[in-house]
Amino acid sequence: MITNISFILNGDKISYDVKSHWTLLYLLREKLGLKGTKEGCGNGECGACTVIIDELAVNSCLYLAIEADGKTIETIEGLASADGTLHPLQQSFVDNGGIQCGFCTPGMIMSSKALLDATPKADREEIKHALAGNICRCTGYIQIFESVEAAEETGGQNE
Ligand code: FES
Ligand code: FES
Repeated sequence: MITNISFILNGDKISYDVKSHWTLLYLLREKLGLKGTKEGCGNGECGACTVIIDELAVNSCLYLAIEADGKTIETIEGLASADGTLHPLQQSFVDNGGIQCGFCTPGMIMSSKALLDATPKADREEIKHALAGNICRCTGYIQIFESVEAAEETGGQNE
């Protein structure tokens, strides 16, 4: 079955005919060309596919595209300014060693953004809890936690 859905994606209104079995991750990457959202496990365990839907961090590999109808969605592509200036969270990950191979980074940053949008001065435990579903094979996590904390000082929330 094909259904037409409409949603807001990174500030733009999108209308698309989707098949009922498509995941939001598939729609974003394979149909809309937004490759920043990564597919790691494909079954809800790694967090690489995290996007923000109506202000909540969501694993897009487990979310049916058809459910996006009427929603507001943010992906990593929506964070930098039009002139290329990185979002404070992105810049903080660069500056504080929160990125090595980078595969987990879009998911880490989207989970972090959802946290800081709701809790601008999240403490270390709140950051750990928010990132508990995001797996990183490279950094050992400490630099990631420090990146989020540093972003709190430079306006990482509500950008
Ligand atoms: S790809 Fe979605 S949680 Fe791993
Ligand atoms: S930086 Fe490589 S998986 Fe996190």
